[in-house]
Amino acid sequence: VIGFYPVLSQAPTVYDDEQEGFDQQIVIKFSHVVAENTPKGLAAQQFARLVDERTQGRVKVEVYPNGVLYSEPDEIEVLKQGNVQMIAPSFPNLSKLQPAWMVLDLPFAFLSHEAVREAFDGKLGRMLFNQLQQEDMVGLAYWGNGFKQMTNSGRPILRPSDLRGQHIRTMRSDLLERAFQMFGAQTTQMPFNQVYRGLESGMLDGEENSISNIYSKKFFQVQKYLTISNHGYLGYAVLMNRTFWNKLPTDIQAQIRDAMKETTQWANVNAIRLNDRQLEEIRQIPDLEIHTLTDAQRAEWMQAWEPLYREYESVVGRQYIDEIRALQH
Ligand code: LMR
Repeated sequence: VIGFYPVLSQAPTVYDDEQEGFDQQIVIKFSHVVAENTPKGLAAQQFARLVDERTQGRVKVEVYPNGVLYSEPDEIEVLKQGNVQMIAPSFPNLSKLQPAWMVLDLPFAFLSHEAVREAFDGKLGRMLFNQLQQEDMVGLAYWGNGFKQMTNSGRPILRPSDLRGQHIRTMRSDLLERAFQMFGAQTTQMPFNQVYRGLESGMLDGEENSISNIYSKKFFQVQKYLTISNHGYLGYAVLMNRTFWNKLPTDIQAQIRDAMKETTQWANVNAIRLNDRQLEEIRQIPDLEIHTLTDAQRAEWMQAWEPLYREYESVVGRQYIDEIRALQH
């Protein structure tokens, strides 16, 4: 018998297996917006497998990829209401709830994978998860995807001034919009699964994303240029509804935490490998022109975006900016 959670019900369904001979099974619906062949998509499946193994089938994680169940921004609301039990939104989506999360979206916030790891495993990661308690969410883990690159049509983007007049899709973050507007771009926040159409129709000129998202959604089919800029970082907070979590038996909580720990260790290594491999495949595409920023070009972008740190200090919170600064040395 499968415990199925109707709308707004947050309590795990428990069957009296001694009396009725049922296997007691708890269902966790895990909704996300990306393709299956991505760091997040694969990690969600791995987590589902490990939970099944660790709990010996007492808990079933049902993964819904590609936004088939819910897209952004709805996934946050449905998690809070308990209509799904797990989501793994990218950081910008959380900055709508708690502006401190914008710190992870500052341009060049992370200069290496090691710095990302330090943030996830350290004080900054804990500070941000603490913020989510008031939203009835538990932060179970951070999953990395990779550094963001830019794709567009029109002209190659090598310098900030090349953005002038470009219409750029951003994720759900005022900071990200501002980052592009600073250089004369027009911006629109748009859910992930509408981006391809926006690019194809010519409504948008470009967007920023990890290689895995560019690859799995085939943005290269409707873009002329790819700039390897590594100018930002795309990662995920893996979240569970807090009320639901608190009602789980403690042995199951421990098994889920265990499965999550193992998944996360694997996922964060796999994410780097997958993005590297998919970049190699993208390089084979004849009609896409790829530019990699030189050190001098990168320095120009960093300097041009520097004022954004001051501009957002009071919104994000000084202590968060200090933490990210400390990781940049
Ligand atoms: C995007 O909206 O482009 C990404 O946040 C999608 C994702 O979850 O990786």
